[in-house]
Amino acid sequence: MVASARTEPRGSMAMELTIGDPTLMARLERGMDASEERLRALAAEARDPYVAEVAGHLFGRGGKRLRPLLALVGAEFGERRPAAADPSAAGASATGTAATDPSATGLSATDAPAAVDATVDAAALAELVHVASLFHDDVMDQGLTRRGVPSVNARWGNTTAVLAGNWLLSKAAQLAAELGPETIRLQSKVTNRLIMGQIRELVGPSDDDDPLSHYFTVVAGKTAALIAMALQLGAVRTGAPDRVVQALAEYGEHLGIAFQISDDILDVTSTSEVSGKEQGKDLAIGVASLPVLLALADERPEAGELRTLLTAATATAAEGTGLPKAVALLHRCGALAEARTVLHARLLRARTALNGLPDGPATQVLHALCDFVARRDH
Ligand code: IPE
Ligand code: MG
Ligand code: MG
Repeated sequence: MVASARTEPRGSMAMELTIGDPTLMARLERGMDASEERLRALAAEARDPYVAEVAGHLFGRGGKRLRPLLALVGAEFGERRPAAADPSAAGASATGTAATDPSATGLSATDAPAAVDATVDAAALAELVHVASLFHDDVMDQGLTRRGVPSVNARWGNTTAVLAGNWLLSKAAQLAAELGPETIRLQSKVTNRLIMGQIRELVGPSDDDDPLSHYFTVVAGKTAALIAMALQLGAVRTGAPDRVVQALAEYGEHLGIAFQISDDILDVTSTSEVSGKEQGKDLAIGVASLPVLLALADERPEAGELRTLLTAATATAAEGTGLPKAVALLHRCGALAEARTVLHARLLRARTALNGLPDGPATQVLHALCDFVARRDH
């Protein structure tokens, strides 16, 4: 991957994983392309050109597209594998059997369709909720750059960003309703967890809360819930057994927390050319990321200095001064290394959840995703 220039959008995460099975790799890539198409079409449904432009601003801009990928990988665990994403297999499932009777899976006919386009819809649904949360997150964080381009709030203002995020959530609800009652139940629950996570982050821990427990509640809500949902939705679309859906959800919850921890570390260590967003944003606006929480815990000698630096960094965020010193201190006091240890422990829990899944190429992809999160640089 070229890390220096952000003129071209990065490829999806699928392109960066080591996927041993070329057939699966090709199917996932086709599914990713189809879900991207679906997203553009959904934005165009706005009819109003202003809404369509704003709502579609981040589609086709690269991004890791982790959530659509997870929906597609989840779909690999059911009998009715995504034939729509695999033209050579049109009309038959990957196991060579015809689509199973939905009633046998305990799902309604709508939630378990023979039409495998629904897998692509599940991928698009997960990304719609994610992009809506990014629009809102950039308002909360005053983020100016996203996916290497000006954020919606930077370009059109906060009001438009909030409303366009709401518009995307309304599209997600519409799509979920088309997919069936189980999907809308899950999507509404997860959207609620996500928003509650963002609100809890905004409000911060109460005096009685342990800051680290508060942190894990926040990230489970704002990040992990949707990552687990993407896997579940994909699996349900193709009629995976309940115990498999459960194992995928458990894996997703742990992977999601690990992913957010890696995001927190990258806020400190990654340049904006690589990440597509501003470096040190959490530090500058006072978001309690894991490295900062660890540095402030245990009365370590650097805590006082860090508090002063962070106050200075927040006060001078516009100029970006104070940040380099805070970054150096987080390295020096060992908090970044400790955050990496917490990250690896969480990835181990994700991998353990994979023991509940059948061995095979799709499970290997989920292991490869753990490897990716362990070494990600963007
Ligand atoms: C935001 O977390 C997660 C959601 C969008 C709900 P962050 O605030 O850490 O995300 P970035 O760093 O801005 O991408
Ligand atoms: Mg943010
Ligand atoms: Mg972040």
